[in-house]
Amino acid sequence: MKNACLLVLCFFMHFPLLSCSPLTNNSDDPSQVKNLDNLYLNNEKAITLVQPEYKGTVSVEEAIANRISQRRFSEDPINTRELSQILWAAYGVGIDGVTSATRTVPSAAGRYPLEIFIITGELEEDISLSAGIYYFDSLNHQLSLVSKGDQRQAMAQAAPQYDFIRQAPVSIVLAAEIGGRSERFVYMDVGHVTQNVHLQAEALGLGSVAVGGFKADMLRALLKTKFEPLIIIPVGNI
Ligand SMILES: Cc1cc2nc3c(=O)[nH]c(=O)nc-3n(C[C@H](O)[C@H](O)[C@H](O)COP(=O)(O)O)c2cc1C
Repeated sequence: MKNACLLVLCFFMHFPLLSCSPLTNNSDDPSQVKNLDNLYLNNEKAITLVQPEYKGTVSVEEAIANRISQRRFSEDPINTRELSQILWAAYGVGIDGVTSATRTVPSAAGRYPLEIFIITGELEEDISLSAGIYYFDSLNHQLSLVSKGDQRQAMAQAAPQYDFIRQAPVSIVLAAEIGGRSERFVYMDVGHVTQNVHLQAEALGLGSVAVGGFKADMLRALLKTKFEPLIIIPVGNI
């Protein structure tokens, strides 16, 4: 009944090609969500990240005022709590509200078309998450291993003009299926997610920058995904 109402609503909102299934805390079935790399979902070996905090010490106004693109990162790794917090801010599940819109970012027609990968070196004091490329299962707040080992050097080859990509302890890559009438909404969604990453990083005292200038084919091969990489967001201590 709820889905039927949403379909009617989406029709009148002129989003006929967009999926209208809301993603809620209670009824999520990731295998039903379009465009997910099913290979990495419901993965028994997935690593569950620590729960994010809903309260920080920096106001949203301070984070907005102080945000700036950082292109220099120290060698100090970030820790798993910081990584968890940033990934949650990017695409995680929010606090259940009156509506079923419980993600940290909006998405056109509630479609949530983005796939999120991280390319990380060793994290601070962490034995459960070693260097590698991981797929972020945002609904379950879990990471699934795509490739073992520090792949930052290989990633940097996709954007050789930016040495800071290799230095940043973690880079987040947003990818999606491109094409069709809903394509422009995908780019808008990327903007929302990227801004959340910037603001959360700022609130944690970390730096970040959006990088759109890279060789997408090289990055796609490294991530082992069919989706189009759209932005790299290196994050780290500054
Ligand atoms: C979609 C997008 C793509 C970007 N691509 C790059 C990039 O390839 N390389 C880079 O150094 N900065 C990139 N940036 C960062 C912008 O250069 C930066 O946001 C802008 O100069 C404003 O500076 P500020 O973020 O420090 O306020 C990008 C920003 C956006 C929003």
